[in-house]
Parts: sequence; structure tokens; C-alpha cells
Amino acid sequence: MKKGLISIGVLAGFLLSLLMVTGVFAKDVVEYNPAYGKVSFTHKKHAETLKIDCLKCHHTWKKGETTGKLCKDCHKAQAEGKAIAAKDAYHKDCKGCHDEAKKANKPAGPTGCTQCHVKAKK
Ligand code: HEC
Ligand code: HEC
Ligand code: HEC
Ligand code: HEC
Repeated sequence: MKKGLISIGVLAGFLLSLLMVTGVFAKDVVEYNPAYGKVSFTHKKHAETLKIDCLKCHHTWKKGETTGKLCKDCHKAQAEGKAIAAKDAYHKDCKGCHDEAKKANKPAGPTGCTQCHVKAKK
């Protein structure tokens, strides 16, 4: 009996650490490092403070899902089938929303290339 409980604890701990290394818990900030310049995306702020619906970005998840495939699982370097290229997917979503908000005179994120992409100082 006691042995059974211990194994359950070990199993639960193992599963939890597996969830953590596979990164299904959302990070506060997601960083991209393309040659064009680094982009820091404040995931937590966008989702929690700005209260943008998860499905607005994670458009292939079902309502209520908190984890699933990520953008680059489907949006590759080049367009494949119906899925547009990763660069276009991010620009359409990220820059697209900022552009619309700016036009409507609402608080918006960066719309200029080098406002969002910060080049490393040489
Ligand atoms: C403004 C767009 C946006 C919103 C809103 C958003 N996400 Fe994300 N999320 C992303 C992007 C971009 C990534 C990075 C993955 C990638 O680039 O493939 C990500 C990554 C994740 C990950 C993977 C772990 C990580 O942080 O790398 C999880 C889990 C996640 N989001 C859950 C959620 C949940 C739950 C919500 C709603 C409460 C949400 N997201 C809202 C854009 C968004
Ligand atoms: C399971 C695969 C899959 C995942 C994951 C996925 N996409 Fe897509 N995405 C597609 C496909 C297929 C299309 C084209 C058909 C459609 O609109 O559903 C598309 C279309 C889009 C479009 C174009 C919509 C339009 O206005 O025409 C944008 C922008 C986009 N995805 C951004 C993202 C972002 C950002 C993420 C990650 C937060 C993401 N996608 C995750 C498969 C995926
Ligand atoms: C549906 C709308 C929407 C989408 C989608 C969106 N943003 Fe934003 N973003 C905002 C708003 C609104 C602000 C301004 C927040 C403020 O002024 O406090 C913002 C602010 C920012 C900022 C400024 C720093 C900060 O955290 O406040 C950056 C950088 C940024 N966004 C990057 C991104 C990236 C990268 C993506 C795509 C992965 C993205 N955003 C997707 C609405 C959006
Ligand atoms: C709101 C933020 C934002 C704005 C504004 C923005 N980008 Fe991006 N851009 C991104 C994100 C996020 C990615 C995806 C990075 C990745 O996949 O590693 C990206 C990807 C790219 C890439 C592809 C890099 C690679 O190596 O795959 C290029 C090139 C690029 N952007 C150029 C531009 C130019 C030029 C502009 C202005 C017209 C611009 N970006 C405006 C966020 C932005």
C-alpha cells in the first residue's frame, strides 16, 4: 500500500517535470532571434493584461485549450499548402493588430520594422 503511494508520487513528479521541459506552460516572454533583429514578445502581458483571446493567435486550438501545436509546427520557412510562411504569419498577426489599433488611435504595439526588431549593437 505504502509502496503504491510512493510510486504515484514519483510518477506525478516525473510527469510534472516532463510538462516543464516540454514547455507547455506559457513563458512570460517569448524571444525570437532572426538575423534581421531580435523580437521580444511579452506573451503574458498580451494574454493576461491586454486580455487578447488565446484563439486570436492560437487559431487552430479549440476554445478552452491551453496548449497545442505552435506556429512553426505548421508555418514553415516557406509557405506549405494553405499555411503561409512563418514570417508572413507573424507579421500578419503581430504587425496587423498593431497597425489596426494605431489607425483607430488606440494603444498599439510597435508598427515600425526596427521598433519591433531590435538590432544587436556592434
Ligand atoms: C498575441 C498572440 C497570442 C496570444 C493572445 C496568446 N498567445 Fe500563446 N503564444 C503566442 C506565440 C507567438 C507563442 C510562441 C510560439 C511560436 O512562436 O511558435 C505562444 C506560445 C504559447 C505556449 C507555448 C509555451 C511558450 O510560452 O513558449 C503556450 C502554452 C501558450 N502560448 C498558451 C497560450 C494561452 C493559454 C493563451 C490565452 C490565455 C495564449 N497563449 C495567448 C501567441 C499568443
Ligand atoms: C495546426 C497548424 C497551424 C498552427 C499551429 C498555426 N497555424 Fe496559422 N494557419 C494554418 C493554416 C492551414 C492556415 C491557412 C488556412 C486558415 O486560415 O486556416 C493558417 C493561416 C494563418 C494566418 C492567415 C490568416 C488570414 O488572414 O489569411 C495567420 C496570420 C496565421 N495562420 C498565424 C498563425 C500564428 C501566429 C500561429 C501561432 C500562434 C499559427 N498561425 C498557428 C495552420 C496553422
Ligand atoms: C490583437 C492585438 C495584438 C496582437 C495579435 C499582438 N499585439 Fe503586440 N501589442 C498589442 C497592444 C494593444 C500593445 C500595446 C500595449 C500597451 O501600450 O500597453 C502591444 C504591445 C507590443 C509590444 C511593445 C512592448 C510591450 O510588451 O508592451 C511589442 C514588442 C509587441 N506588442 C509585439 C508583438 C508580437 C511580436 C506579436 C505577435 C507574436 C504581437 N505583439 C501580437 C496588441 C497586439
Ligand atoms: C510587431 C512586431 C514586428 C514588426 C513591426 C515587424 N516584424 Fe519582422 N518579424 C517579427 C516576428 C515575431 C518574426 C518571426 C521571427 C522568427 O521566426 O524567428 C519576424 C520575422 C521577420 C523576418 C524573417 C527573419 C528570418 O530570418 O526568418 C524578416 C526579414 C523581418 N521580420 C523583417 C521585417 C521588416 C522589414 C519589417 C518592417 C516592414 C518588420 N519585420 C516588421 C515581428 C515584427
